Amino acid sequence: MTFRALPQELIRAKRDGQALSPEAIGELVGGIADGSLSDAQVGALAMAIFLNGMNAAETVALTEAVRDSGEVLAWRGLGEGLDLPGPVLDKHSTGGVGDLVSLVLGPWIAACGGYVPMVSGRGLGHTGGTLDKLEAIPGYDIAPTRQRLRTLVREAGVAIVGQTAELAPADRRLYAIRDVTATVESLPLIVSSILGKKLACGLDALVMDVKSGSGAFMPTLEKSRELAQTIAEVASRAGTPTTALLTDMSQPLAPCAGNAVEVREAIDLLLCNKRGGRLLEVTRTLAAELLLAGKLAGKLAESRDAALALLDERLASGAAAERFARMVAGLGGPADLLERPERHLPRAPVVRPVHAARSGRVTRMDTRAVGLAVVTLGGGRRAPSDAIDHSVGLTGIAALGDAVDGERPLAWVHAASEADAERAASQLRAAIEVNDVAPEGVVLPTLIQDVIRREAP
Ligand code: URA
Repeated sequence: MTFRALPQELIRAKRDGQALSPEAIGELVGGIADGSLSDAQVGALAMAIFLNGMNAAETVALTEAVRDSGEVLAWRGLGEGLDLPGPVLDKHSTGGVGDLVSLVLGPWIAACGGYVPMVSGRGLGHTGGTLDKLEAIPGYDIAPTRQRLRTLVREAGVAIVGQTAELAPADRRLYAIRDVTATVESLPLIVSSILGKKLACGLDALVMDVKSGSGAFMPTLEKSRELAQTIAEVASRAGTPTTALLTDMSQPLAPCAGNAVEVREAIDLLLCNKRGGRLLEVTRTLAAELLLAGKLAGKLAESRDAALALLDERLASGAAAERFARMVAGLGGPADLLERPERHLPRAPVVRPVHAARSGRVTRMDTRAVGLAVVTLGGGRRAPSDAIDHSVGLTGIAALGDAVDGERPLAWVHAASEADAERAASQLRAAIEVNDVAPEGVVLPTLIQDVIRREAP
């Protein structure tokens, strides 16, 4: 990278609280991507941004620079027969427990005429990762060639895969340095990191699911709302109309958490073996927002009612399930996964109920601790190099307000051993508060707390 000013002078300007120009930000991000900025300089820059923040224009410039630091996927202007005939849509979540929205939403949007090239991540801390869940499916290849990805997005309408080295390379280096320099929790750095990767997929519209509550990445409702608003604003100013939903994560979204068990839940929802529930409601609301967006290549629905009706029809007809099956088979998984999930998904040797220490109603949950119980079982990682046991997890997790007693457990634990099951049981009992209250004595959180829509300028 050729710098017009010395990089240390740019870092100094940020250190002293000045706003950086888009050109300066472009040069700094270029220097992060090509290595011409040293680790020390990147760390110092991250700390200067962490301490002094960035204004909206700087955050947009940083997001665009991260997006453009590598390949930006193009889906149009490719020539006759190659252009996708519908909008390119995607969703991102700040992460949670039992949050398998992507597994259902991707194929559901594809069944409605959208195209979903979804680049997903692995579990982080107490939260599960879509890629880890998909790797519970034998043979599923999360790293297809670029050509295979293109073909699959065209033919199945959806491909959920991992990040490649070519997409937003500046983020990979910056994130690794933030991780070890105490600069992760910075709004402009978080927003540009999340959006830089997503917008590199060449989207027409994005929907963002920002969680709040005891299992959320942000510590308070106010911080979650600020993140949701900033993401919607910055993505839209960077040219991608974005709607952010603020949704509740004060209990697991699905009644299960783990890898294979969440894939099984997705299959049950797609096949309409299960109806209703918080997971379906959040997924349906996020999906409806996407059908209403997608300005460039035309909206897939003209009103919210029309969007919901289309979604309900495509779920009930089996079209969404069929797209999921096509994606799985197209990426090397079994062609009969939906017909015979029990044949293909790994199962834990020990499955047993965990009862609360007393009878009563669930009044509060430490959702983060529930997620950590899954990590302890081996369903998540303690260190990046750890292998995952896809078979372990929790099912039948009681919801806030549910009555539990000697018959109805807090959850069923799926574990590799009796000792692991016992450890997870203790963690669950500590994480789920049970009290002697009447049903109306439990305050149920609002599931969808806010919807923030922003059109591209
Ligand atoms: N997820 C990301 O991709 N980046 C962040 O900075 C935080 C969460």
